[in-house]
Amino acid sequence: MLAYLLIMCVAFYLVSATLIRLVGEYLFSQKADDELAAARAMAAAAESPLAGRDAEALWSLARDGAGQTGRVLVTDLYGTVQADSLSLLNGARLSRRETAAALNGQGETYGCYFVGEGGSSVSARAEADSMVCVYAVPVGGETPAGALVYITTSQTAYRSLMRIQTQMLTWLALVTAAVMLISLFVSRFFTRPIAELNEGIVEMTRGDFSNRVRVRGKNEFAQLAVAFNMMCDRIESLDKARSQFVSNASHELKTPLSTMKILIETLMYQDPMDPGMTREFLTDINKEIDRLNSIIGDLLTLVGIDSGEKPVDMKPLSVADLLNDNMRRLQPLARERGIEMTLSVREQVMVNGSASRLTQVFYNLMDNAIKYTGRGGSVRVELNRREKKAIIRVIDTGIGIPKEDQPHVFDRFYRVDKARSRETGGTGLGLSIVKQIVLMHGGHIEVASEENKGSTFTVELPESPRENA
Ligand SMILES: Nc1ncnc2c1ncn2[C@@H]1O[C@H](COP(=O)(O)OP(=O)(O)OP(=O)(O)O)[C@@H](O)[C@H]1O
Ligand SMILES: [Mg+2]
Repeated sequence: MLAYLLIMCVAFYLVSATLIRLVGEYLFSQKADDELAAARAMAAAAESPLAGRDAEALWSLARDGAGQTGRVLVTDLYGTVQADSLSLLNGARLSRRETAAALNGQGETYGCYFVGEGGSSVSARAEADSMVCVYAVPVGGETPAGALVYITTSQTAYRSLMRIQTQMLTWLALVTAAVMLISLFVSRFFTRPIAELNEGIVEMTRGDFSNRVRVRGKNEFAQLAVAFNMMCDRIESLDKARSQFVSNASHELKTPLSTMKILIETLMYQDPMDPGMTREFLTDINKEIDRLNSIIGDLLTLVGIDSGEKPVDMKPLSVADLLNDNMRRLQPLARERGIEMTLSVREQVMVNGSASRLTQVFYNLMDNAIKYTGRGGSVRVELNRREKKAIIRVIDTGIGIPKEDQPHVFDRFYRVDKARSRETGGTGLGLSIVKQIVLMHGGHIEVASEENKGSTFTVELPESPRENA
């Protein structure tokens, strides 16, 4: 703002200075033309009295020509004053430049200057604050016989110039003040949203993510405010998810620990138990340790995926082979539970991925399908290829997932039926790991399910580009 103001003031000052100069020149040239004509007329009239050395006639000519405020001097060829309207320099020699030029036959000369405080010695009549002009005109045509010096003083020209200058300065001050006010207002208008945004950011760095900035209008600042608010929403939800995750994780870890503590205390403080009972307690403790181990393992997996590092073993893989391997590993479990498990590969597809990570995906999905399907049910795994994508479906005829739970099954630690899932050993981390891995591979996962009819998990993975080439 200050920079603009400075530029404006300098520009205005330059314009007004130029204007004052132009007006001054105009006033001066008007005056000079008139006065030079008068000087010429006087020089013509002085020609014969000067030639005839008629001092009386010269003096009266000088006096009449000088009028109230001027002065007229007539010199001979040597610059000696023959007549002075003020009768001060009679007989003295003028050595002024103007006179010399007129006497040497170089023609008329004139010059004007301003007289400040104190007046001027040249005119002896000039008051302070006036303009003095000196005209020197040769007397006597081709070969001059002398010179006539006409000195005028005028306050009007000077005063009008001064008046213009004062007016200009007043305008300059007024315009500056107006510009200052306007730019103050405009900069307020522009900086207020920035100040608000800044406040929001400061609040956020203090850890308060609930703050939102006001959105006004539709300009760039409004867009910035909208983007900032969106970012706040996202951070707030991430912050909530994080604390939720920490509390869930602590709770999940605490449960087996509490169980173990009770079991161990019973073993410690009870009178000698029979060996069968002791073994049963120890078996339970061992189970809880396994559970702790699997939770911590899952958490470490999630941390690994969250860190965003691409797994080192990314390479083109046959999806059918991966599905087959997992099928073989889970077949015994399915058989034990009386579930029929089948794999149908409609088309071979290669994907670029990590074998270990994708194994986790398929293993978890098939494991869930078996876990949440009752005896006599079936689990069918399909592989298709569509629009350069591998489409993997894991379809079961199990208990299904209620509509309201479906959006949450991929959340960390989310279990539909808490009690039963814990019995089956689940932590609720399986599907969140699955989702993270699928996203990491540039894929997509969704669930369709109907309670008591079964669930279908569909995974889409982009086909490996090498396969296309
Ligand atoms: N095929 C399925 N049929 C019915 N419910 C399912 C199915 N797959 C998952 N669910 C529900 O979604 C929840 C989350 O599944 P997820 O695999 O994340 O956890 P989990 O199986 O309980 O434990 P984990 O897989 O970590 O051992 C499960 O607890 C279960 O309620
Ligand atoms: Mg699971």
